[in-house]
Amino acid sequence: MNISVRKFEPKDAETLSQIQLDSFKTFLGDRITEMVPSEEWCKVAAVKNEKAENAIFVAEQNGSVVGFISASADLRRGLGVLNVIGVDPECHAKGIGSALFEAAEKFWTDRKMRKVWTCVSSINPKAQIYYLKQGFTPEGRWRDHFFDGIDEILLAKFYRQPNPS
Ligand SMILES: CC(C)(COP(=O)(O)OP(=O)(O)OC[C@H]1O[C@@H](n2cnc3c(N)ncnc32)[C@H](O)[C@@H]1OP(=O)(O)O)[C@@H](O)C(=O)NCCC(=O)NCCS
Repeated sequence: MNISVRKFEPKDAETLSQIQLDSFKTFLGDRITEMVPSEEWCKVAAVKNEKAENAIFVAEQNGSVVGFISASADLRRGLGVLNVIGVDPECHAKGIGSALFEAAEKFWTDRKMRKVWTCVSSINPKAQIYYLKQGFTPEGRWRDHFFDGIDEILLAKFYRQPNPS
């Protein structure tokens, strides 16, 4: 299989909206109905100033876009965010999510992030295992967060030792 990762281009926007919807349906089912408007991807990817920088990477398999990762860097705080990742459900468990994470991780470490955080749904065991595999550890829980009855588990990965609490 031929997987490559590159930066988002505006021509990818509609495909990313579809992949986001299809991949999130794998754990949210009919709770998710609306697609991210395609112009959102361009807006998010364009953020670059002295305080913050964003990047969206897309994965291609044999020339077709099959996944994406959206990453942010708070340059003053040294705090990164993995905003969202999605892989076409027909292409799960083939290493695409890991290849995307590698690109995002280079984006964060090049910008000297000391910590990166994200959150994962309590009803999404596949992504929970994925994030643990990428080196995240749980930091807490938001109860009934995006949906009533579904918690979000907060996850973080440190690029330097956290201070003792
Ligand atoms: C989470 C997600 C991005 C992982 O992408 P992927 O391309 O399937 O991931 P990879 O193939 O690189 O797998 C990496 C690791 O994740 C875990 N994993 C992936 N698929 C798994 C599955 N079906 N069951 C259990 N663990 C799984 C494994 O630890 C795997 O490592 P291994 O191959 O060494 O066993 C993908 O499942 C997805 O798009 N899910 C829906 C959207 C979502 O949940 N996004 C995260 C919330 S923001």
